Amino acid sequence: MITTELEQLRAEALASLEQAETLDALREWRVTYLGRRGRLTQVLRQLGTIPPEERPRVGAVANRIKDELEAAYEAREAVLKEAALAVTLAAERVDVTLPGRPVDLGGYHPTTLVLREITSAFAELGFQVVEGPEVEWDYYNFEALNIPRDHPARDMWNSFWLTPGGTEAERPMLLRTHTSPMQIRVMEKFRPPIRVVVPGRCYRYEATDATHESMFYQFEGLAVDEGLTFADLKGTLYAFARMLFGPERRVRFRCDYFPFVEPGCDMSIDCSHCGGQGCRVCGGSGWIEIMGAGMVHPQVLRNVGLDPDRYQGFAFGGGPERVAMLKYGIEDIRHFYANDLRFLRQFRW
Ligand code: PHE
Repeated sequence: MITTELEQLRAEALASLEQAETLDALREWRVTYLGRRGRLTQVLRQLGTIPPEERPRVGAVANRIKDELEAAYEAREAVLKEAALAVTLAAERVDVTLPGRPVDLGGYHPTTLVLREITSAFAELGFQVVEGPEVEWDYYNFEALNIPRDHPARDMWNSFWLTPGGTEAERPMLLRTHTSPMQIRVMEKFRPPIRVVVPGRCYRYEATDATHESMFYQFEGLAVDEGLTFADLKGTLYAFARMLFGPERRVRFRCDYFPFVEPGCDMSIDCSHCGGQGCRVCGGSGWIEIMGAGMVHPQVLRNVGLDPDRYQGFAFGGGPERVAMLKYGIEDIRHFYANDLRFLRQFRW
């Protein structure tokens, strides 16, 4: 009897469905029992062999069983899918209460921080920030600054000449030894009144020690106008020192010589590291020289076509690393270029 066969098939299929533990096994089950060439279809093929009056009844049984098996399949599939999801969720569980992994943030170099502070202090005093080339002509680095080729004052700046061998006349380019060449470039380009501050990298061919590096930064300042005096220079630099170091630090001006200023001076701040007692940072003197300065030499004004009887200027040049050493109590300039993260991380912000 077909109906008996159908009932047996039903029982077998339901039992086998219970055994399907995975979605793959489940799919296989479906092909076996409900597929186009599956077991149920095979039984139904025999419908043609039974008397026509019996066919509706047998057909109804077959359809009921087919529906039942399909429903059972879907129910089982739902159960297995849920189980599979539970396994994935357990395996990929995220504890949202765990602290995040720290992201290593970059920070600013202490020289950058101090240079920004310096340039914005001068910006507040009305100075405009400009920059210039690190590879420079002899003319701008020396000659136009009143330092002729054969002048012994050239020994103040040990230079990296860019083409070795020959005489200086044959190799007129060098790595700038100071930012002062920008005084000339600015005066060639702009007419007074001029007020600029120039941060930049400089190079000197000399031995390094706690306060000297062969590559370092400078900030240059230049003001040119009618009627500027040494009082303007001192007033400007006092105001700057107060902004950077606070009103309680002491400032000292002394006579100094630079070929491109007359009169020339340097400015020192009392050493914050030892409080003026004398230590390694200040070389035992209690003072740290942070700037050279002076009134622009009449010859320098003439070199750029300005009449020294009408225009006066003052200029200054300083070392931001020295400023940073004072501000932060750093005792060796070589820390700035050693790239030791233990040092640099102290200045992130
Ligand atoms: N350029 C000088 C130096 O590097 C510093 C300086 C600048 C002095 C401007 C006077 C005026 O030593």
